[in-house]
Amino acid sequence: MNENLPPDPALLPDSAPPSDPNRPPDPTILHPIPGQSRVVLLKPLVTSPLIEVGDFSYYDDATDPAAFETRNVLYHYGPEKLIIGKFCAFGEGIRFIMNGANHRMDGPSTFPFPIMGGAWASSFDLITGLPGRGDTVVGNDVWTGYRVTIMPGVRIGHGAIVASGSVVVDDVPDYAVVGGNPARVIRRRFNDSDIARLLTLAWWDWPLDLITTHVRTIMAGSVDELERVAPPSSLGHHN
Ligand SMILES: CC(C)(COP(=O)(O)OP(=O)(O)OC[C@H]1O[C@@H](n2cnc3c(N)ncnc32)[C@H](O)[C@@H]1OP(=O)(O)O)[C@@H](O)C(=O)NCCC(=O)NCCS
Repeated sequence: MNENLPPDPALLPDSAPPSDPNRPPDPTILHPIPGQSRVVLLKPLVTSPLIEVGDFSYYDDATDPAAFETRNVLYHYGPEKLIIGKFCAFGEGIRFIMNGANHRMDGPSTFPFPIMGGAWASSFDLITGLPGRGDTVVGNDVWTGYRVTIMPGVRIGHGAIVASGSVVVDDVPDYAVVGGNPARVIRRRFNDSDIARLLTLAWWDWPLDLITTHVRTIMAGSVDELERVAPPSSLGHHN
């Protein structure tokens, strides 16, 4: 295929029209990047009442990104929810392992006899209502690399980065970079005082037009510069 040719719009259902350079991208379009059906915005994609997602959080997968709810969120029978903030970027192969994945572990065997049916089905009560670890929560502005696994009930803080191949078993602090199996903090992206300022600024909650005006500062400015362009409502008190 000649990559210089424009994509055939007929092959790109729900794809964004050519970008209007005077307007921000539309958070309600399934495939926000013209010609890139591998990227899906999760908010317009998700239908499960057990999953909440904020604007512009996306999943990138060369194979079947639209199957996110079944291929990337596993064992999700509830009642625990998967709650994802705004402006998160999930690299290919992320897996959210939800509470339904766990077998009973307090007896001699973990084998789930009742699901096989027959005479074993009468013990079904032994595998329902097992204690859960609560909702899995991903903050705003989180980036996960290639093939990351998130275990049940984990909270990933705002602005965190999860390195490729990581298995996240514990909560991830705001603005931490974590990696490995089990994922450990590799470094913090900012010092404690700047993290507090960033959390107060919460740029992801600004009006979209303001975010649009200040994309360069949000991506590449200092915390001082971000504070200077923040709306008064997001300038709280901090140390
Ligand atoms: C997390 C990441 C951003 C860190 O980048 P960085 O800040 O430049 O980090 P460095 O390469 O300098 O490594 C810093 C430390 O993290 C460790 N590290 C880096 N990647 C790691 C990984 N995937 N798993 C475990 N540890 C990792 C390094 O070994 C190093 O440890 P050390 O300080 O003990 O030597 C990068 O490694 C990564 O995983 N990027 C994701 C890329 C990706 O998968 N993209 C998919 C498309 S979105």
